[in-house]
Amino acid sequence: MDTRGTSLTGRRALVTGASRGIGRAIAVLFAQEGADVAIVARNAEALDEVAAEVRATGAVCVVIPADVTADDAPQRIVDEAIAGLGGLDILVNNAGGNSFMAPLHTMRYSGWQKTMNLNLDSIVRLLQAALPAMIETRHASVINVSSVAGTNGSPFMSHYGAAKAALISLTRSVAVELATEGVRVNALIPGWIDTDLTGFLREDDGVEHAVIDRVPMKRWGKADEIAQGALFLASDASSFMTGQNLVLDGGLTANP
Ligand SMILES: NC(=O)c1ccc[n+]([C@@H]2O[C@H](COP(=O)([O-])OP(=O)(O)OC[C@H]3O[C@@H](n4cnc5c(N)ncnc54)[C@H](OP(=O)(O)O)[C@@H]3O)[C@@H](O)[C@H]2O)c1
Repeated sequence: MDTRGTSLTGRRALVTGASRGIGRAIAVLFAQEGADVAIVARNAEALDEVAAEVRATGAVCVVIPADVTADDAPQRIVDEAIAGLGGLDILVNNAGGNSFMAPLHTMRYSGWQKTMNLNLDSIVRLLQAALPAMIETRHASVINVSSVAGTNGSPFMSHYGAAKAALISLTRSVAVELATEGVRVNALIPGWIDTDLTGFLREDDGVEHAVIDRVPMKRWGKADEIAQGALFLASDASSFMTGQNLVLDGGLTANP
């Protein structure tokens, strides 16, 4: 096993939400850096495209079509990843998102629950399924993809913000629980990134300007830039880092 810098040679990684956007960029970058990768999302066809890109690097790619919120999914995902990769050193809990905006007082509780299920509960269940095997490796890294929505108030997205904030707290708690077990647990916190998730904000120039004007760098982040942060957290470059937030937001949360 190569343990220098950001090399992932010999590492086995599971990336959820890898059919597009940030998860896809992470899966491909990890493979380029030497990892074998298991990829998860609902769209099997899109996953096959990503798998071709991963395999073109020479890496093994295990394709696992699944809805992470389905009752039987988390254990099956972890079992299939471990069977196909021969173990698990890196888990990237990236599948997530938000499909609606509403003030809390008119929000349907079913919408709240759906968002919590995807952005928090599915991750709890994936962690419970994966951590025993990761503890066995004594050299593992968990990356929970949260959001700046979880570090500040998120008006009209209180459901999403609350889930992402809880994920930051969960990251810290589990990191301390496992600090002497060889498992590091960190949160990756993107700001506004140009992916399908934020496409609706680019449909109207006024809305897009309002969003980007608040970003000190005055631009959208790219999925590749978030993948570089994930690589740092996955690799030995961050070997003394656990329970922390890595914020990649063009300066957004540095605003007064
Ligand atoms: N883009 C941003 O500005 C931004 C900012 C902060 C945080 N984030 C976070 O970063 C992560 C990735 O976001 P993104 O921008 O790359 O979003 P995206 O382009 O919408 O991609 C989301 C990925 O998650 C998968 N996914 C969604 N629901 C799923 C489910 N129930 N089961 C399995 N897979 C599921 C999607 O694949 P399928 O549809 O094929 O299932 C897709 O691969 C999310 O956790 C998001 O909250 C994004």
